[in-house]
Amino acid sequence: MILVTGGAGYIGSHVCVALLDAGFDVVAIDNLSNSNRVSLERVQFICGRSLVFRHADIRNEELIYDVLRTCGVTAVIHLAGLKAVGDSTVQPMTYYENNVLGTMRLVSAMKRANVKALIFSSSATVYGIPKYLPLDEKHPLRPTNPYGRTKLTIEEMLTDLYRSDDSWRISNFRYFNPVGAHESGLIGEDPLGTPNNLLPFVAQVAIGRQEKLRILGNDYDTPDGTCIRDFIHVVDLAAGHLSALRQPRHPGLLTVNLGTGSGTSVLDVVRTFEEASGRSIPYEIGERRVGDVAACYADPTFAKVALGWMSARSLQQMCADHWRWQLQNPNGYGDSEFSKIRERSRYLRRHS
Ligand code: NAD
Ligand code: UD1
Repeated sequence: MILVTGGAGYIGSHVCVALLDAGFDVVAIDNLSNSNRVSLERVQFICGRSLVFRHADIRNEELIYDVLRTCGVTAVIHLAGLKAVGDSTVQPMTYYENNVLGTMRLVSAMKRANVKALIFSSSATVYGIPKYLPLDEKHPLRPTNPYGRTKLTIEEMLTDLYRSDDSWRISNFRYFNPVGAHESGLIGEDPLGTPNNLLPFVAQVAIGRQEKLRILGNDYDTPDGTCIRDFIHVVDLAAGHLSALRQPRHPGLLTVNLGTGSGTSVLDVVRTFEEASGRSIPYEIGERRVGDVAACYADPTFAKVALGWMSARSLQQMCADHWRWQLQNPNGYGDSEFSKIRERSRYLRRHS
């Protein structure tokens, strides 16, 4: 049995699908502060299997301990956390309390229950401003915002834990830019309010929920002047977690980039999304966003060596899958029961 914290969220729901499809039993914990329990109903529909869901906060150590023991958990994939960079600069203590204290409570419960396998969702944001590219795991760590510092603090805490007791198996995964959705179009990213991130915004322009995209700067030192990022399909990202669970020669403490190794510019994303959706994406050029870096992409070599994992899906597929999710769920999980039933029958028709 695998415990997935933050299991109802964007990445969590895709990780749950990967686990159930691979034959693992799953218990998901989520306080639903940034998600909807409908995502987990759909996970079960996609997989044709059920999972256990606990509506709970990871800071509730006794509850986590109880779940670990009563469900017979053998490993934890820890995705619960707050992730909005801008928000973290406004309310840093909320971020430290949720992300750092939450992880402390989780780890304390794991220690008591003698569950010592943990995969932690870190971020490429721990590198800060790149000194060289592509970013390998040895790159200096200098996050530039409170969100990134909570991730680095947790990585350091877990390293100290491992040094004190090498029977732990800890994987720190530094995600680059997860995008896309499950091919069924039933689960995907459902941001609250106006999206901050590029792909959800582009998808909302394509569906007509936003009038136009604002490209945040076209005077960067890159071939077309717009920023470059390493977009990775969320289904590939989820598969990386399975590789870590199955790794027979896990070294005990592993810190790995999960990215594709390819940089794509904002303008390339817009063009590829237009092709995938058949819709035009009107845009204007705006000011640079404070804190943005010109280019950021992974060196994924170590993930291949350590996990035997590498990403497989193209940018075209990321955009096509993201678009299918957006098209079938114009208002995310907030859609009516009727549209949910309609989506389900479409999925069944495609797979019959
Ligand atoms: P998400 O917001 O969709 O999922 C996080 C989930 O955690 C949500 O369902 C939320 O309700 C839940 N949660 C938050 N605090 C909780 C708490 N105290 N107790 C229980 N549940 C709690 O975000 P996501 O994109 O799926 O990201 C998952 C993790 O991966 C996060 O920790 C995030 O920081 C990290 N990450 C995400 C990205 C990205 O671009 N999406 C990149 C790097 C790292
Ligand atoms: C952001 C977060 C990072 C997080 C990552 C993935 C910041 C500063 N960093 O990074 O911590 O790990 O998301 O969730 O928020 N863009 C536009 N118009 C928009 C939105 C974005 O042009 O409306 C551009 C941005 O300027 C950037 C690129 O698109 O150049 C990607 O932006 P985004 O999706 O927010 O990801 P990151 O900036 O990489």
